[in-house]
Amino acid sequence: MAQQLAPDYLIGLAREFGTPLYVYHAEKIREQYEKLTSAFRNSNTIFFYACKALTNVNILKYIHSLGANVDCSSINEVRLALFAGFSPDRILYTSNGIAFGEIEEAKELGVIINIDSLSNLEKFGAKFGHSYPVGIRLRPNILAGGNLKISTGHDKSKFGIPVDQADLVLAIVQKYNMHISDLHIHTGSEIKDVDVFVKGIEVLFDIVPKFSELEFIDLGGGFKVPYKDGDVETDIELLARKIEAAFSSHPNPGGRPLQVWFEPGKFLVSESGLFITQVNVLKETSAATFVSVDSGFNHLIRPMFYDAYHRIVNLSNPHGDPKRYSVVGNICETDTFAWDRMIHEVREGDFLAFYNAGAYGFEMSSNFNSRFKPAEVMVRDGKAHLIRKRDVFEDLLRNQILL
Ligand code: LLP
Repeated sequence: MAQQLAPDYLIGLAREFGTPLYVYHAEKIREQYEKLTSAFRNSNTIFFYACKALTNVNILKYIHSLGANVDCSSINEVRLALFAGFSPDRILYTSNGIAFGEIEEAKELGVIINIDSLSNLEKFGAKFGHSYPVGIRLRPNILAGGNLKISTGHDKSKFGIPVDQADLVLAIVQKYNMHISDLHIHTGSEIKDVDVFVKGIEVLFDIVPKFSELEFIDLGGGFKVPYKDGDVETDIELLARKIEAAFSSHPNPGGRPLQVWFEPGKFLVSESGLFITQVNVLKETSAATFVSVDSGFNHLIRPMFYDAYHRIVNLSNPHGDPKRYSVVGNICETDTFAWDRMIHEVREGDFLAFYNAGAYGFEMSSNFNSRFKPAEVMVRDGKAHLIRKRDVFEDLLRNQILL
């Protein structure tokens, strides 16, 4: 197990690099990746890191060095992945509602593409026919995931082509003699129940025989990680056994083995990340004791956006008497990080660490209130490296045009 970064060490980083600060622990990413590869060691399964969770190129390079592939959700993520050293055949672009021009760009770059609408499928078929293999993103009509905002496979979701439109998909594929190499589904994020993935396979297996050149089944991402005490992560060993069993009970059409793909984001990077803030102000009121830190939802939006729980530890007073606090930010909006939370006694100037900040933390941050985006540090082999500078005032003016 990757050793946890000690409170004193984290305080040292906060002092050296300033706060608010994102810190990523590389060895924790490796540990998570190895859980996946070890559980699936006997099956033909590979992993594409869903880099929308965290795209710092140093993280991308590190994940590349582990042997993983990468899943992208925009053409710029594709470019970042190429910049980080992934070869095009290890880059998957799972598109969603994008202009056809961007799909053409992805094709020019030579990456693997999943198309998510009949409209773009038709355009792709008309332009490229059989010449470029392509995948199809289907919506399996399965409701799963930690909350509705992060559920993507249900029957009211915008994502993918509804599986009940398979006949329309087939008509386009036949019309243009398209080379369909993979079928993709992604049902949501924070899926604990491995049977959701098995259900997904069942849905796909009904239509798999209709695609004679199929090589891959892409089951998307969404593995759960623990956020709170008592939370568990998706049981990856059990998942591997169930996936293997599901595939062995469905002989592949034409006898060719299908490779299975997954696209984990949170599973790889969530727990590797900590977000360190410093306490500006303590405010006693009849409703709560507010702890205002030098950040806000401009830097970590998950609590306000998804009611997400992030464990908060007082690095500066780990043995203080626990007290009940509302931890809030300093921006001019209600930006509560935690309501009614027991934390070791907090004093002004203390450093607080927010856990599980690696996935969708920095990546969803903004300059709201004209505050600077935080710096990022990667700890690797016991050494801390600054991998993104904190913004400076000029960054707020960059791209603005003075009239
Ligand atoms: N593949 C596709 C096609 C996706 O849309 C996503 C996430 C993933 C893979 C990776 O899912 P993961 O393994 O990270 O759960 N911002 C939200 C999560 C939104 C996920 C969007 N799609 C959050 O902070 O909870």
